[in-house]
Amino acid sequence: MSPVELGKALEGLDKYRDERVVLGFKTADDASVFRFNGDLLLLQTLDFFTPVVDDPYLFGQISAANSLSDIYAMGGEPLTALNVVCFPKKLGMDVLNEILKGGMEKAFEAGIVIAGGHTVDDEEPKYGLSVVGVVKKEEMISNGGAKEGDVLILTKPLGSGVLTTALKKGTKSESEISEIIEAMVQLNKDASLIMKRYGATACTDVTGFGFLGHLSEMTRASSLRAVVNSKSVPILDEAIPLCREWKMPGGSFENIEFLRDYVEVEKGIDEGVINALYDAQTSGGLIIAISEGKSKKMVEDLKKAGYNYSSVVGFLEKGSGILVK
Ligand code: CO
Ligand code: CO
Ligand code: CO
Repeated sequence: MSPVELGKALEGLDKYRDERVVLGFKTADDASVFRFNGDLLLLQTLDFFTPVVDDPYLFGQISAANSLSDIYAMGGEPLTALNVVCFPKKLGMDVLNEILKGGMEKAFEAGIVIAGGHTVDDEEPKYGLSVVGVVKKEEMISNGGAKEGDVLILTKPLGSGVLTTALKKGTKSESEISEIIEAMVQLNKDASLIMKRYGATACTDVTGFGFLGHLSEMTRASSLRAVVNSKSVPILDEAIPLCREWKMPGGSFENIEFLRDYVEVEKGIDEGVINALYDAQTSGGLIIAISEGKSKKMVEDLKKAGYNYSSVVGFLEKGSGILVK
């Protein structure tokens, strides 16, 4: 759902407040943050969606990686998760077994346990995780801590929305979009550990609200303005022509509409590139704000850890809104 629709759905619900909630719906952060034991904070997330690839095992991996991402974006350590499953029985339990195996595999890689879940009979399959994690109060990274002059690093390439849509429509095959599948399967775990080590000031992961949408949450929460250098944003080559033809998924159009007055785009930029910046992503990378002096070394470390597309994509300055150059 779009942020506007979501806002309507949540109307009047903020009167049910609890002072133990450190971060909730208000700042559009990735996980709910609950103070429960001194300086230890409990992080809780839930994410699930319909298949973005045909291969059930890959889908399980991608969805689990995506669900874990919200914990990593906050500098947290995931501990346990529950499977959330909607599944049509007629597809066969062997298919569901493959989905769950993919999820388990990622959980194992992340060092967490999946010890249960819930399954609902449904026409269209959906899968994801509800993840519980922890973070020490002084180590938590929200989307609101960025400082004027910080630079912005993006750790994975854009293109998952438009490319998985092409896969669904049959105009691209799974092997033709293997690079974005690899990116969606990749955990944000190591990127999270690296940004913590470098003292990142703010972070968010990039999912359905697109690169510019999630960046707008960071600039709003940090009361700053972002300047994005479109030429340095990593976008998969095969995504750009499709974005030029406006072949993105529906959510991307909602993102464009929602950010209309917030984002200013300089003239002369390839429309395919601009549209990719709004494209609704699945299991995308992290946008990390970090002081400029540390950024070069940090990008090197991210690349060494397997985030080959990592790059500095812009910076933050006084003001509000986003300028794309
Ligand atoms: Co998120
Ligand atoms: Co999420
Ligand atoms: Co149950």
